[in-house]
Amino acid sequence: MPSKLRLGALASGGGTNLQSIIDRCGDGTLNAEIVLVVSNNPQAGALDRARKAGIPCLCIDHREFADREEFDRAVVAALQEAGVELVVLAGFMRIISGVFLEAFPERIMNIHPALLPAFPGLHVQRKALEYGARFAGCTVHLVDGGVDTGPIIIQAVIAVLDDDTEESLSARILQQEHRIYPRAIQLFAEGRLRIEGRRVRIEPPLCPAEAVLTNPPLE
Ligand code: GRF
Repeated sequence: MPSKLRLGALASGGGTNLQSIIDRCGDGTLNAEIVLVVSNNPQAGALDRARKAGIPCLCIDHREFADREEFDRAVVAALQEAGVELVVLAGFMRIISGVFLEAFPERIMNIHPALLPAFPGLHVQRKALEYGARFAGCTVHLVDGGVDTGPIIIQAVIAVLDDDTEESLSARILQQEHRIYPRAIQLFAEGRLRIEGRRVRIEPPLCPAEAVLTNPPLE
């Protein structure tokens, strides 16, 4: 068994995605360990989850720094000190600067609750509903210099229901987030991701050529 991938997780909120990664590390489906959790928000539920799981955690409050780069330098220093190999953003509500990207090139993942490239940014479940999309979902991607723009590793698709609200849709998307984020990290841990420009190839390929969804169904 290869050694465990050392993860650093960044979270600003409740941390249910963080919890899914903690749980999959715990049950062995993910050959990784979270060596540090960092939050910019002292109230983040994610910090409680880390403490409960016995994972070292830190609050680095962005309001105490003069600018984005200075904050990022402090976060990067903590992650490097902990020997982090892959950074996972799990509901981290800060934009990553070049300082961060240079320190962890192609080593930062993010989860986004929409089917990118549709609906980057905030309040995306509401935007999908307002647009009238018939499918919604979530995306795990590598982080580049843009907002929710990096190469896509995995996506999950769910149908939008006629009576969906922002809350109900968000809840069903979140269930899928908890499934795909650990999977993306495990593919990375196994060395199966090859980045070619915008495209991420998975080796050996996992190609569900028959995976077609229509909403409504054809019959
Ligand atoms: C998730 O919907 C994630 O996709 C988005 O922020 C939310 C974080 O939820 N980036 P949680 O803190 O993991 O519960």
